[in-house]
Amino acid sequence: MRQAPSSLNIRPQIHPVIRHQDVDDASRIDELMVATFGGVRTDRSVWNLRLTEAIEDLCFVAELDRTVVGSLRFWQIRVASVPQLLLGPLAVDPVWQGCGVGAALVSKGIDRARQLRQWQQVFVSGDPEYYPRFGFAPVPENAIIWPGPIEQERLQMMSLTQNQKVKLPPGPLALLPELPVSA
Ligand SMILES: CC(C)(COP(=O)(O)OP(=O)(O)OC[C@H]1O[C@@H](n2cnc3c(N)ncnc32)[C@H](O)[C@@H]1OP(=O)(O)O)[C@@H](O)C(=O)NCCC(=O)NCCS
Repeated sequence: MRQAPSSLNIRPQIHPVIRHQDVDDASRIDELMVATFGGVRTDRSVWNLRLTEAIEDLCFVAELDRTVVGSLRFWQIRVASVPQLLLGPLAVDPVWQGCGVGAALVSKGIDRARQLRQWQQVFVSGDPEYYPRFGFAPVPENAIIWPGPIEQERLQMMSLTQNQKVKLPPGPLALLPELPVSA
């Protein structure tokens, strides 16, 4: 494994290998989630939108020297009955934060989501200073009903279509989870 940067260094930009998540990655991803979000991460309201499995074709990991150092998943949600995307959770090993791993994962995930052409919008609840670099913009106040407490400025969205004029119908619109199919 390559040497992690010291916190005193200027953070070097690295180029991780981004690949689809596979079943063997599950425990390492759990470790990353605990390291980045802490033990009670599923208490956050965004988990009310993640009642099914993540979209397999949109689950990516970032590897450095065959060690997983980052993870990004997407869930499908419903907005006015239409399937749309929810980005996250995005987690980068604290040792490698600030080196370009998160940006590489988000770029790959958005590119793949666009290729699949199944959704018009992607939403995220995340740092308002991080996501605009990928094209996200704040969701206008009162446009969306979030399923629980959220700081309004964290709620952002981006069009996945070439046609930037594709907009949501007038709101407020509830973001709803996909429901598990009962046995
Ligand atoms: C937020 C997070 C995913 C970013 O990943 P990362 O690999 O550290 O970020 P990158 O190195 O790709 O950052 C790209 C740019 O964003 C900046 N940046 C990184 N984290 C940022 C943040 N939280 N807020 C604003 N800017 C940020 C970097 O400085 C860098 O800027 P530059 O291009 O001008 O150099 C990562 O820090 C993390 O796992 N944090 C804890 C969990 C979390 O908050 N996840 C997001 C919510 S879903």
